[in-house]
Amino acid sequence: MKEKIERVLTEVEEFRIEDKEQLEQFRLKFLIKKSELNELFTELRNVPAEDKRMVGAELNNLKNTAQNKFKEASEAIENNTDNVTADIPDLTLPVIPNELGTRHPLTLVRERIIEIFSRMGFNLSDGPEIEDDWHNFTALNFPENHPAREMQDTFFLEKNPDIALRTHTSSIQIRVMGKKKPPIRTLAPGRVFRNEAISARAHCVFHQIEGFYIDEKVSFADLKQTLYHFAKELFGEDTKIRFRPSFFPFTEPSAEIDISCLLCKGKGCTVCKHSGWVEIGGSGMIDPNVMENCGIDSRKYSGFAFGMGVERITMLKYQIKDLRLFTENDVRFLKQFRHVM
Ligand code: DAH
Repeated sequence: MKEKIERVLTEVEEFRIEDKEQLEQFRLKFLIKKSELNELFTELRNVPAEDKRMVGAELNNLKNTAQNKFKEASEAIENNTDNVTADIPDLTLPVIPNELGTRHPLTLVRERIIEIFSRMGFNLSDGPEIEDDWHNFTALNFPENHPAREMQDTFFLEKNPDIALRTHTSSIQIRVMGKKKPPIRTLAPGRVFRNEAISARAHCVFHQIEGFYIDEKVSFADLKQTLYHFAKELFGEDTKIRFRPSFFPFTEPSAEIDISCLLCKGKGCTVCKHSGWVEIGGSGMIDPNVMENCGIDSRKYSGFAFGMGVERITMLKYQIKDLRLFTENDVRFLKQFRHVM
């Protein structure tokens, strides 16, 4: 029995464990129930009583040796340097791009416009996107039967036709005039809504920037000079500006604002439809009725107002041909404005 124990002990000690397979073989040979080592414990029964203690101690020693060896070997294999390198990612692989977002072109242009006007003393105003008839139409001098009041142009609330999504930022004029006393010089950017089919040139949601100035003795010359300065700042020093007589219920006189075509510099091309001019918005002297509707004395004060489409200006500035690009979130489009302004 003693010899057997010694032989198995030598076997345990000499067994080479260098990989997982050898580790498993070691386990099968020495540690499972049916292993030779374990059988020795059964044989202990036959050992004479006076030797049992000593042989039992030797057997325990053998078992511990085998178990310790197994434990150490399996730990060593776990920490094997070969396995460690397998966990390190391949440092020669190309990096995963971590791209920064960019500002939307409409945001860029809006911010630029705000910046230009703020240097001329315009502050910022705001108003709700859901408006009532008074602020969107009536106070702005729209006659009772004006086509803009029809369902096909305006999104009215079905349950309460007095409420609609604002069709223009001119409603903010009424909001501000109702609250503030002249002099007022403010810019009001915002989203507007019209019941239009979406196409390359039209959308049911778009952006406008409204501006107006009310004080004593504000004249049409002030309007012209303000917008001329703005156009040169935004589109370039050699940009020309022209006012075309027009009509809006809330201004008298009214004018459409054109700038010289950026592409052909006025010579004529497809963008300007060979006229040399492109429209950027509407403007005029605030109708006295509008001021009176808001409690401002129209004999003492006068003012000009203008409104322009942010999409339209952005399209002109960056030669974007399809309005839908602004809302489709195609990063290939948006990325192009990463280094702009
Ligand atoms: N509200 C007009 C529109 O949406 C644009 C406009 C024209 C605004 C003339 C003005 C203005 O302030 O004076 O078509």
